[in-house]
Parts: sequence; C-alpha cells; structure tokens
Amino acid sequence: MSLNEKYEKISAAYLQDIKEAGTLQDVEEVRVKYIGRSGEVNKIFKELGILSPEERPAWGKKLNILKSDITKSVEDKKEQFSQKDEKEDIFDPTMPGNYSRFPSIHPVTGILREIKDIFSSLGFGVAYGPEIESSYHNFTALNIPEDHVAREMHDTFYLNQEDKLLRTHTSPVQVRVMENNDPPYNIIVPGKCYRRDTIDASHSPVFHQVEGLMVDKNINFADLKGVLAEFAKLFFKGSDVKTRFRPSYFPFTEPSAEMDISCRICQGKGCSSCSQKGWLEILGAGMVDPEVFKHCNVDTEKWQGFAFGMGVERLAMLKYGISDMRFFYLNDIRFLEQF
Ligand code: DAH
Repeated sequence: MSLNEKYEKISAAYLQDIKEAGTLQDVEEVRVKYIGRSGEVNKIFKELGILSPEERPAWGKKLNILKSDITKSVEDKKEQFSQKDEKEDIFDPTMPGNYSRFPSIHPVTGILREIKDIFSSLGFGVAYGPEIESSYHNFTALNIPEDHVAREMHDTFYLNQEDKLLRTHTSPVQVRVMENNDPPYNIIVPGKCYRRDTIDASHSPVFHQVEGLMVDKNINFADLKGVLAEFAKLFFKGSDVKTRFRPSYFPFTEPSAEMDISCRICQGKGCSSCSQKGWLEILGAGMVDPEVFKHCNVDTEKWQGFAFGMGVERLAMLKYGISDMRFFYLNDIRFLEQF
C-alpha cells in the first residue's frame, strides 16, 4: 500500500471509529490506535525515510495536520461524554423538586355542584334547556309581554334568526319542562345566562344561574320558605346563617319575594360588605303566577307551586369572600389554585 493510500485509509477510519465510540474508554482506545506512540500516524512518520529529501517536509506537515485533527476529534468526543456525565451524575438536593400543579375545580363549577348536591338531597331533579332561546320562552310565556319594562332590564344579545336570543335567565326552562311533562315538578336548572352588561366587579355579560321549580297539589308559601331556608343552611354550613324574605316583584311569580341571608362578616350587625344592612340578597322567588301555568297548559285549579332563581357567581363570592366577579374569568392560576 502506498503512503498515500495509507494516509487516505487512516483519514477515513479514525472518523468512523470516533463516531462509533460509545464510552470514554472507547475514545481513549481510538486515541492510542491513531496517535499513540506506536499508533497509525507514527507508523507513517517512520516510513517517510523512503521519500526523497524534497518530498519529506510536505508529508511531515500533512501528517502533523492529520495528528492535530485526530487530537481535536478525540477531545471533542471526550468533552461530550463529560458533559453528559455532569448532567446525569450531579444530584443537587437543594434544587427545587419537580413540582406539578394539582388540577382544581373552577369555583363556579364547584359551587354549581354543591347546589346540585344540596337540592338533590332535598328531592329535586336536574333539567337543562337551550342557551339560544325563543323570545316566547324567555319572556312571553313567563308573563313578560312585549312592551313590559322587565324586557329592558333583561337587555340581551339577539340573533339574526328571527325571534332568537341568548337567554337572559334560566327561567325559560321552567316553561319547557312544564310544556313537555305532566305535573308534579320538582327540578332545578343550572346553566349559563347572557345579558348586555359591561363587565365590572358585579356584572358580566355571561354568568350562571340556578332556577328551581316545585309544583304539586298542596304546595304553598311555607314550603317555599322551608326549602330555601334549608338550602341556605346547608350551603353556608357551619355558620348559623339566618334568612329573611322581603316582598318583591317578578312578572312570573305572585306573590314574589327576595331572600336575604344574615351577613356572615358582621353577623347581621352591619358592615361595609353588606352596606350596613346586616343582610345580603341571595335569590328571587315566589309562587308561580297562574299566567305562566296557563301558557304551559297546567291546570291552575289542581296544581300550584313555587319557583326561585339564584346567581351562582354571587353565591360563590359570598361563600368565599371574593370581592370582584372578574376573578372568575381571568384564568389567573394564583386565584384558581385556591379552590
Ligand atoms: N329569573 C330571575 C332573574 O334572572 C330570577 C328569578 C326570580 C327566578 C324569581 C325565579 C323567581 O324563578 O321566582 O332575575
């Protein structure tokens, strides 16, 4: 084999060997094989004697370059191994651990579940209805005629499709349940509602409500009070929460009332959270207006009952002492993690 052939062979072979070296020991063996004292490169050096004195210096230079190329490749490969070793071997017990966040339930979802659990323990089933609603179900059947001022309070998003809107409350589901089923009724309706509100500390264009409807042959206002006071006791468990009913007005109930709970911060004495009143409103309720029954073909001689509606975000704010409704929708992990 000529010097040139040997040179070419070594130049290709060392690169392959370095590539295949899998351990530090392998790399060291490659080094010895090629640039060790009796390695391949030195063997060629020894053969340079056969060359003419004019040829020798060029070959010397060529071989020295090869030698330093091999040295560099060997060192680079060793460096790779030591970097890997550092990563694998060094265990620093003072480093923060691999911390993974525990998923938690969104407070609004959590409160919805609690409300559902409480009412199912009181014998209520759960019904759902569409969020895109007809104005008939959202207003007319609930005794809110076209020119009624209450429609203004419920200003909402209308769809291009005729007569369709985003429901402003969960009350239309009362109507749907009564249209499609025979009495008695004993249901709650959790769900999203929409109004044309700008978002601030206590308003949002999307929010959640739970509606309720209990209709049977002998239901009266005492049942309404009993069920809703029991709900408040179970929901604000551990605190001796008091309830009171104030007369109010809703087009779909007669008589109508709002239920307040005693302020849990000042125990009813009056503070800034309850505007010095000692009481906080948590829901609207009343005996189902005969006009609503008529729209649903329910015989008012035989059946009577009560309905109620509560805002889920408001209940969550009261329960957890949250001062601003926007926290529910900001997706700030620091807030959400607390539930
Ligand atoms: N739908 C009412 C609202 O959004 C809440 C309400 C009040 C529902 C009284 C009822 C009720 O069923 O009886 O403001």
